[in-house]
Amino acid sequence: MSDERMAGIIARFDERAADYDDSAMHRALAEAVAGFADFDQVGTVLDVGTGTGLVLRAIAARHPSLRLVGVDVTPGMLAVARRELPAAEFIEGRAEELPVADAAADLVTCVTVLHLVADPAAVFDEFARMLAPEGTLVTATFAVRPEHGHGAGAATPGYTPNHAPFQTPEALAEVAAPAGFVLARHETVDVGDDRVLIAELAPVD
Ligand SMILES: C[S@@+](CC[C@H](N)C(=O)[O-])C[C@H]1O[C@@H](n2cnc3c(N)ncnc32)[C@H](O)[C@@H]1O
Repeated sequence: MSDERMAGIIARFDERAADYDDSAMHRALAEAVAGFADFDQVGTVLDVGTGTGLVLRAIAARHPSLRLVGVDVTPGMLAVARRELPAAEFIEGRAEELPVADAAADLVTCVTVLHLVADPAAVFDEFARMLAPEGTLVTATFAVRPEHGHGAGAATPGYTPNHAPFQTPEALAEVAAPAGFVLARHETVDVGDDRVLIAELAPVD
């Protein structure tokens, strides 16, 4: 990813960090993801693009004994995450080259992040590398809601979000396939003004 694009993302989310948890949409989505994911056989959860750790906090409330690790590129978001969930481990890093060992996670979550990355194929390769055998990936991505858009993605200084590859189950399956994932199940939820596709992807046997 270009330094300019990454700098734009970090600047945007550093600015949002203090108020990010006020987003009822992101809090509700974190709960929906924690309710959707299957935690059978899960010991370690890795949340990529964890932000302020909302998803890990929702998981911790339901499954207090799990080992929880979050990775994000924005220091301000991670500072909130560390304050709010001191029991988890939070690491500064990029989704495209995650500072996590091979096969380290039984469940990888990635919630409203994929539209921000420049090279989704590299990110899915990283998901595959870090997942233990039998592990699963849960993504949440903005779907099309005709009355509200999310079609083109609004330009923000330094980067332009790209929603199109993740808006339908078919499109998501196509992006994930080269890294060896198949779409196992999915649901669509409306949270606030947004429609979100929550999907479980499993490595091909
Ligand atoms: C909309 S927030 C979502 C945060 C969290 N997943 C949630 O559901 O509340 C997007 C997050 O992705 C992070 N991010 C964007 N691109 C990233 C990348 N390439 N690597 C790691 N984190 C990234 C941002 O810093 C930001 O914290």
